[in-house]
Amino acid sequence: MDRLPGFRDFYPAPAPTADGWTADARQYLFDNWREVARRYGFREYDGPPLESLELFTTKSGDEIVGQLYNFNDKGERAVALRPEMTPTLARMVAAAERHYRKPMKWFALPQLFRYERQQKGRLREHFQFNADIFGESSPGADAELIALLIDSLRSLKLTAADFRIRLSSRNAWHDFFVQRCPVTDREYDFYQVIDKLEREAPENSEAKLRALGFSLEEVRGFIQAAQPTAELARILDDLAARGLADYVTIDYGVIRGLAYYTGPVFEAFDRSGAFRAIAGGGRYDQLVKLISGGRIDLPGLGFGMGDVVLTELLRARKLFPGFEPRIDLFCLIENENLRLESLTLVHQLREAGLIVEFPLAPTKSDKQFKRALELKAAHTLRLEAMPDATRTVLVKNLESREEFRCPATDAVARLVQHRREHPRGPTR
Ligand code: HAM
Repeated sequence: MDRLPGFRDFYPAPAPTADGWTADARQYLFDNWREVARRYGFREYDGPPLESLELFTTKSGDEIVGQLYNFNDKGERAVALRPEMTPTLARMVAAAERHYRKPMKWFALPQLFRYERQQKGRLREHFQFNADIFGESSPGADAELIALLIDSLRSLKLTAADFRIRLSSRNAWHDFFVQRCPVTDREYDFYQVIDKLEREAPENSEAKLRALGFSLEEVRGFIQAAQPTAELARILDDLAARGLADYVTIDYGVIRGLAYYTGPVFEAFDRSGAFRAIAGGGRYDQLVKLISGGRIDLPGLGFGMGDVVLTELLRARKLFPGFEPRIDLFCLIENENLRLESLTLVHQLREAGLIVEFPLAPTKSDKQFKRALELKAAHTLRLEAMPDATRTVLVKNLESREEFRCPATDAVARLVQHRREHPRGPTR
């Protein structure tokens, strides 16, 4: 039985195939995302992976709605696996915002599902680092969010030479639109054309723009001029003060496909242009109001960073650390009469925080030693019965081959001390 197309198995590293996925690499991303989000004062939340279909159909926009994994459940409810986190978040915030001080800074690491054509950088499930802020309309919040996005990529050792943030604004495009087009109910159609400009053949874009009363040339002229609005200039100043100016450029070629954005919008791309967007987000000041049926009016903004493109990029740049499993100690049990006493010792060592392995069944000495080497154990240890019936422990460093002996009663303290003095790399 094969897995479904567009879904992934996450193996312990190293993956069985060169293009395989590992739980270690995924955890590495999660750890970094969590750590940076916490440094910025964001609190973690989560929601259900299955929601009522309606939550997404009116809020997300046609592209995502066309990609929904939806069905009727056994209670005849129309439901969908979440394709993105933002509608769930807006629902949660609308329901409980009064319990939280503003501005609210929240993050989540959801798995999302989109029934799209499987291709490079696009699968039918992915994980996303979502960070959002509610209750703050100042551009200071937009800058804070973009700084978090930049720092989360920097925490993975990517530099300004690897990626850039393309910063744009729906307000700038709104002004452009209303100055030229009196038919305002076509504004989202116009945004859709701009969103696809880089992927679509110019003649198609030209025809679609003409139908809305625009020329491709004037649209391109506007993008090329890249004049920051006052709001974007403020965001740039804030980022420059943090030393992050090199990561951001004004780029009206970005407008974002999702329907709910209202203000500044942005996307992160690798500089070489070889990959799809690493992350995207922006301001959505009307979404909570829309989802709460007008009850709650709370500005919001946020971004989502997917694990798929990011993993491709980190692999291409060789920026993942080694995920060699390492253990501190392998307890050799060569005398089966000492198995139970050895187990007591193993358990004490594990309780003291050391990573300890031992043979689960009687095994020849040379096989045990081989297994210790395979597991990259720092040390082997062996419990020994002395003629006077006391117990000692023989510890051997597998790199230097140095050995020491100590009474079994001192072993845990000695080994914990030794581990503290000789810390090792990641032990995933
Ligand atoms: P999005 O642009 O649809 O935005 O997705 C954000 C990122 O998720 C993309 O840049 C990409 O890295 C990744 N991604 C999206 N779809 C797939 C896929 N099928 N396979 C692999 N990776 C994918 C949103 O989802 C917004 N809800 C983000 C947001 C949060 N806006 C405000 N707050």
